[in-house]
Amino acid sequence: MTTTDLVPARAMGTPRRRTEGPAKVTGTARYAAEYAVARPLHLHPILATVPRGRVTAIHTTAAEALDGVVAVLTTRDAEALADTADREFAVLQDDEIGFRGQYVAAVLADTSETARHGADLVRVTYDEDPFRARLDPDSGELYAPDSVNPAFATDSVIGDVSSALRDAPVTVDATYRTAMTHNNPMEPHASIVVWEPAGTGGRFTIFDSTQGVSATRRNVATVFGLDPGDVDVISPHVGGGFGSKGNMHANVVLACLAARRVPGRPVTYALTRQQMFSLVGYRTPTVQHVRLGASPDGRLTGLVHDVVEQTSRIKEFAEQTATYSRSVYAAPHRRTTHRLDPLDVPVPSWMRAPGECPGSFAAEVAMDELATACGLDPVELRIRNEPDADPESGKPFSSRHLVECLRRGVERFGWSRRDPTPRARLVDGWWTGTGVAAAAYPANRAPGSGATVRFHAPAAGGEEHWDVEIAAADIGTGARTVLGQIAADALDVDVDTVEVTVGDTAVPAATVAGGSSGTTNWGTAVVDAAQRFREKFGADPSDGDEADGTTPETDAAEHYAMSAFGAHFVEVAVHADTGEIRVPRMLGVFAAGRILNPTTARSQLLGGMTMGLSMALHEDSVMDPRSGHVVNHDLANYHIASCADVGEIDVEWIDEVDPHVNPMGSKGIGEIGIVGAAAAVANAAHHATGVRVRSVPITVDAFLG
Ligand code: MOS
Repeated sequence: MTTTDLVPARAMGTPRRRTEGPAKVTGTARYAAEYAVARPLHLHPILATVPRGRVTAIHTTAAEALDGVVAVLTTRDAEALADTADREFAVLQDDEIGFRGQYVAAVLADTSETARHGADLVRVTYDEDPFRARLDPDSGELYAPDSVNPAFATDSVIGDVSSALRDAPVTVDATYRTAMTHNNPMEPHASIVVWEPAGTGGRFTIFDSTQGVSATRRNVATVFGLDPGDVDVISPHVGGGFGSKGNMHANVVLACLAARRVPGRPVTYALTRQQMFSLVGYRTPTVQHVRLGASPDGRLTGLVHDVVEQTSRIKEFAEQTATYSRSVYAAPHRRTTHRLDPLDVPVPSWMRAPGECPGSFAAEVAMDELATACGLDPVELRIRNEPDADPESGKPFSSRHLVECLRRGVERFGWSRRDPTPRARLVDGWWTGTGVAAAAYPANRAPGSGATVRFHAPAAGGEEHWDVEIAAADIGTGARTVLGQIAADALDVDVDTVEVTVGDTAVPAATVAGGSSGTTNWGTAVVDAAQRFREKFGADPSDGDEADGTTPETDAAEHYAMSAFGAHFVEVAVHADTGEIRVPRMLGVFAAGRILNPTTARSQLLGGMTMGLSMALHEDSVMDPRSGHVVNHDLANYHIASCADVGEIDVEWIDEVDPHVNPMGSKGIGEIGIVGAAAAVANAAHHATGVRVRSVPITVDAFLG
């Protein structure tokens, strides 16, 4: 088996600020909709107002008569796309409506205001069909998908769990729910599309807000039947993504269609916040039935985690919600399953830690309930169920320091002073309590990234410098900065002499920023390029020398289960009269391999925990089952944790260098911060009040009456 030679860490592991920080704070860093192009047109779409049916008429005359309107695209006149296999991308291809909020037309005008005014003047009529828009765990239409995101088994059964549960002296049997939630990165999805019809088949240049320029290139080329080389995608700065910009969505297709309609006029399309609630993915709501069987000392004998969630009828997305329960705790008998309810709703997709995030809520609250049932400390219960090897595959873990995270958290949080009795501390009118939950997130790795390293000899009086080029995505994480640190160590040069280019299809293709795999995939390609450079040119290269690298295949995943781990400790206060719930204190302790940049890593983990707090207390996309519409589709009504909601958040990690995931010794850190965080809040709320809350968001009514 191959083992990974680790790159000696010099720049890696040291705190560094984002290299593009000054450009961002001075406003010179350009985001997708900010590029200066000649004679731009602005696009405003018309969205379906029925969830299922077909368009019967579209009246565009009034819009077309408006001064400044240049074109109106509709389902009646849009060009036929080359490939509509992915129905999310089949924009304006027919009159069928698959969900409310689907594109049915778009107005192109000289200004965004005129485009919007024009869109208001377009009249659309529909034939409406019966529809279902609310997840129903008892639906007769439930089905088992072939696999769950991205390629996990839908169901997994080990041993005889029914007997184990029947014979268990202690059991937990409860149903947990998580709400539908929407990604709301600060920068909405946005594109400027330039279409040049000249030449062979024409050429797109797309300034886009994306988690992966290479994937957008591939998708646009497929949909329009172009050579991928004729699609340039440029995305150096992205104002957040969280998964919604990881898969391309229909907005890019619409902007491309529009640009082809009016050659010579680039098209700008920045989604409004409201449009983001039907067009760019969301996290499915879940209903999760968990059953645990244990001996009186808390050792699990059986574990069942059965999940029901929704998908869209037009395109399947199956969130891997129960996979969390496959690898975290030991239990000889186990079953995990996923069923989908196909609805007439927008297409669900990725949102920070798809699967692990909602799955850990149910799994980690159930463990808290088991601790109560056994009369055990919830930290001790988790330690007693620590597996020797991955319970699902039997493989050893490449590294696993979950117990160390729990123990370190106990110390740092002051857990040992905790009185286990619920509803025992009323402080100034607030019931207060503390809770714990574990966290795990797989250390994903995928092939498909390339990198170039180029040397520039010092000009007179200057310094040598290095270009590192890779079509990675820096969505605000600090990826660009960390790749510079990795390159510097792989080349054994001063980090300040390295300049990194990301977010452009002009440089070697790379995987998306997703599944917390970016730094692993891209960093490995950068290390490979650096090592090839040194092999080719030695220690004394000439100006302009360059070498390319890729992400080499590894068989590590055949031999090891690889995950990052963590533990959350949370303090909660619930107002005795109003039920208001506050979280004054959170601590997250993580074991995620070598932390390559403590400054940006802390932000990732803290951001994940904040998003977990937001999931626990606020985020809830309210689907009106009568209209198929998310009624709180803006930031006035969809509440995301703001500064006033966030108390003290403390982040720590333990020393860990993983020898198998990648040559940096690191694991991904973008998503693990959110995993388990909401469960820790719910568990603390139980300790504070004695009320067991099994759904998020947790709202005041849970504690009243
Ligand atoms: Mo993340 S949800 O894999 O972009």
